[in-house]
Amino acid sequence: MTTGFGDERLLFPATERNRVPIGDVLADQLPSTGLILEIASGSGEHGVTFQKRFPDLIWQCSDPDPEHCRSIDAWIRHEQLTQTMPPALQMDVRDANLAKQLGAPAQAVVAINLLHISAWECSVALLAQAATLLPSGGKLCIYGPFSVDGRHVSDSNRSFDASLRQRDPTWGVRDQTVVLQEAGAAGFTLQDITLMPANNRMISWVR
Ligand SMILES: C[S@@+](CC[C@H](N)C(=O)[O-])C[C@H]1O[C@@H](n2cnc3c(N)ncnc32)[C@H](O)[C@@H]1O
Repeated sequence: MTTGFGDERLLFPATERNRVPIGDVLADQLPSTGLILEIASGSGEHGVTFQKRFPDLIWQCSDPDPEHCRSIDAWIRHEQLTQTMPPALQMDVRDANLAKQLGAPAQAVVAINLLHISAWECSVALLAQAATLLPSGGKLCIYGPFSVDGRHVSDSNRSFDASLRQRDPTWGVRDQTVVLQEAGAAGFTLQDITLMPANNRMISWVR
């Protein structure tokens, strides 16, 4: 959705609702300084919110969609963050040269609402990329809806899952148990699972 302000900023309605609770969890999980790579930044509203909330971090947004990258850059300009926040990287989590594109070591990787709105191979790629990009002690934080042991945690998540799969058969709510297994295999140690509003979860690992 465009803002109607005459520039390229997009508004994602869910972002308005979830940025404060997500920021509260990130405040506990992220390091106090360093470069944070956000994969699948979407409109960029989360990115500018977190850059302002955590001014000692460098928040690097990324997204494969050029319209989203233009929106991220427009939000950075609108919030007058061009001196502190780098422009969006047009980046697909499956890109082979992600580390080269990033150009500097990241201390954390954050992905919000990506796993269910992309093919499972993107979830696997995210874990593999984060394992490659992050040093020992680096953090990985993934937010979204998850089922647990093959069971949806709410009726609304069940309907959401069905609607996602109808839109694209490769999409769907991922199972926490399976994601934890994949993350463990990729070299991550589970740190925290935080239950979030609207039946979402933030899962955090350390490399
Ligand atoms: C539901 S939106 C979430 C955006 C933002 N994180 C938020 O919560 O508002 C999903 C985003 O995932 C991005 N995406 C889809 N496939 C991707 C991929 N293979 N690699 C990286 N990002 C991807 C889309 O372009 C879109 O911006």
